[in-house]
Amino acid sequence: MAAPQTAEFRLDTLPESPFPRLNALIEGIQPGKPPLIMSLGEPQHPFPDFITKTIVENAKDFGKYPPIIGTPDFRAAVAGWLGRRYDLKDVIGAGRALDPETQILPVNGTREALFNAALVATPVTKAGTRPAILMPNPFYQCYAAAALAAGAEPIYVAATRDNGFMPEFDKLPDTLLARTAMIYVCSPANPQGSVASLDYLKNLLRLARQHNILLAVDECYADIYDREKPAGALQAAIDLDGTLDNLIVFHSLSKRSSLPGLRSGFCAGDKKFMSRFRAFRNIAAPQVPLPLMAASAAAWNEDEHAAENRALYRRKIDMAERIFGNRLGFYRPAGGFFLWLDVGDGVAATRDLWAKGGVKVLPGAYLSREDSGATGDLPKGQKGGTNPGTAFIRVALVESEAKTEEALQRMADIL
Ligand SMILES: Cc1ncc(COP(=O)(O)O)c(C=O)c1O
Repeated sequence: MAAPQTAEFRLDTLPESPFPRLNALIEGIQPGKPPLIMSLGEPQHPFPDFITKTIVENAKDFGKYPPIIGTPDFRAAVAGWLGRRYDLKDVIGAGRALDPETQILPVNGTREALFNAALVATPVTKAGTRPAILMPNPFYQCYAAAALAAGAEPIYVAATRDNGFMPEFDKLPDTLLARTAMIYVCSPANPQGSVASLDYLKNLLRLARQHNILLAVDECYADIYDREKPAGALQAAIDLDGTLDNLIVFHSLSKRSSLPGLRSGFCAGDKKFMSRFRAFRNIAAPQVPLPLMAASAAAWNEDEHAAENRALYRRKIDMAERIFGNRLGFYRPAGGFFLWLDVGDGVAATRDLWAKGGVKVLPGAYLSREDSGATGDLPKGQKGGTNPGTAFIRVALVESEAKTEEALQRMADIL
C-alpha cells in the first residue's frame, strides 16, 4: 500500500495496527476447529507468586504520585540485573559509565518509552532537511508511529534471510545517515528471533556516533533465548570506548517475567539524552505506580523464574522442531518466542489455517512495509517497493505446551 504523498494530519500515513487488520481478514470465516490463538505475543506462562504479594504489601502507596525517576530500590534492582546479565558490575555506580541515579528510568511498559524517545531525540531539522528515523523491516509497529509523531520520515530497512534478519544500516547512503536522528533495532528481533552479535552492535554504535544519531536498542526479549545468551548493546558500548554515548536500551518485564499487564520496564543509556528524556517525562510521560514498581524491583532481583520461563519456551521450540523439521523454512530462533515461517503467501496461509484448523496466526506482511524505495534511500543492491514479510507468518509460542502442540500439529497438517 503506497503511502499518501500529502497528509492532513501528521499520523495519516500511520498504518493500521496488525491485529484489527487480522480480525478483518478472517471476519466471517468460521474457524474449522476450536480456536487456538497464536497471533498475539502475550505470554500466557504463570508469573511469580511474589508479584501479587509485593503489590498487596505496598498497596498503601497507590495513594501517592510515583516519582518519574522511580525509587532507589527499583534503580538498584535494575542495576543489579544489568550487572549480572551483561557482566557490567564494574561500570555501574556513581561516577561510572552507568550511574543508576541519572541513567536509568522506569517506564510504563517499553512501548511508551520507545515511542516517547523519538519525540525527544528528533531535531526540527537535521542536515538542513526533514530528519529520518531508521528501523528494521519487518518491525515492532510502535517505531513507525513514533517516527511520524516526531515529524521524522520512517525509513524501512530490510531484515531478510540474506542478511541474517539484521538490517544493514551501514550500507545506507551518507546523505540519509546525515539526516538520521535515530535508529531503532531490536535484538532478539521480533518477529524473526535473530540476535545481533556484539560486533554488529559495536559497528552500529560506531556508525551512530559518526553521524550523531541516537541508537535505540529494543532488548525486551533479552532473557528469552535458545542456546546462547544474546549480547547487549550496553556491553558493546563499554567495549568500544567505556561510555554509553549515543545509546539507549529498553528492557521489559512483559516477556522476561510473563508480566505484560504490569506495564513495567526500564530504559538506560547516554547521560545527556537520559537527562533530556527525564525532563520530558516529568511533564508528559506515564509513571509506574509505586506498588507496581516494588513488584518490578522484586522481579529484576530474581533470576530463577526467568530461567524457568526460558526453559519452557525452549521446550516449545524443541516441539516445533520435531513437528516442522526442515519444512516451511523452519529454524530455531536464537531468541524470543516467535516462529517466522515461510509459507509462500502469508495472508492466504493465515486464512487457511483459521478456516481449516481454527489456528490464528499473523501474516508477516502486517508487520512490514514496502521498503523505502521511493526516497532512493536504500542500501546498495536493495530493491525498493518489496515487502520482506509477504511470504511469512508469525507464530507466537506463548500458550501452554499442550495448546502449543495442538496448534503446531494442526498447522503442520494444513500447510
Ligand atoms: C519488539 C517489542 N518491543 C517492545 C514491546 C513492548 O513491550 P512492553 O510495552 O510490554 O514492555 C513488544 C511487545 O510485544 C515487542 O514485541
